[in-house]
Amino acid sequence: MTEPALKIEGLVKNFGSLVATDDLHLDIEAGEIHAVIGPNGAGKTTLIAQLSGELRPDQGRIQFAGRDITGLSMPARSALGLARSFQITSIFPDFSTLDNVALAVQAHAGHSFRFWQPAGKDQSLRRPALDILENIGLAARAAEPAANLSHGEQRQLEIAMALATEPSVLLLDEPMAGMGRDESGRMVELLRGLKGGHTIVLIEHDMDAVFALADRITVLVYGRAIATGTPEDIRANDEVRAAYLGTEAAIEVPHA
Ligand SMILES: Nc1ncnc2c1ncn2[C@@H]1O[C@H](COP(=O)(O)OP(=O)(O)O)[C@@H](O)[C@H]1O
Ligand SMILES: [Mg+2]
Repeated sequence: MTEPALKIEGLVKNFGSLVATDDLHLDIEAGEIHAVIGPNGAGKTTLIAQLSGELRPDQGRIQFAGRDITGLSMPARSALGLARSFQITSIFPDFSTLDNVALAVQAHAGHSFRFWQPAGKDQSLRRPALDILENIGLAARAAEPAANLSHGEQRQLEIAMALATEPSVLLLDEPMAGMGRDESGRMVELLRGLKGGHTIVLIEHDMDAVFALADRITVLVYGRAIATGTPEDIRANDEVRAAYLGTEAAIEVPHA
């Protein structure tokens, strides 16, 4: 077996007396889509923030492809190939879709920002930016100001901007949030298309999407992993059903 893409050992994060991450141990295998599900407040976003470097754990260790990154800053992790998809707030609404991605390419390449010329006019940035837009199905919207994109397209653009950093591991926190059925369906296809080229840690409430995409699922409750397994394992797990999935009102588990 190859080295896990991410190895999480004994991770603890407290907010005052609240234990948001409680001695978490988890391996994310290279190339897998690993979904993390759990009720609101389970610590999913806190986990992603510790993986991306936005939050420092109180205890424990995170390894990225065998290298201890626990003490590394967010930019240092990003440079190694670990990317978090940021929220719509990181998009420049007046810039074209292409210029937004080109700026992300430029930032990753370590060039200083050159605002007197749109990044999308620079061929060395335009080409990779267009490739990414094609890859995620937004090429037809390249010239459109980002503000004119639908909610679903803006979420796609966020992922495009994360891809500009050429990540091996993508951290996605609820990419389908606020989407209608059609938009979610397109996002599922987009993520499926990224599989293989990227390891993906996917936090998502849309159980149809999770069960359609995930190679493995971890169920987080009160900051602890109560189960990790294939979608079939998770569907059949009594403890998971009792603690989480069994409450039909809270969540419907799609049948196989
Ligand atoms: N910055 C913070 N300060 C204090 N408490 C926080 C902070 N961030 C998250 N929490 C708390 O930690 C717990 C886990 O939150 P979060 O990781 O956002 O859960 P999830 O994403 O699974 O809904 C919740 O009880 C939340 O209120
Ligand atoms: Mg969250």
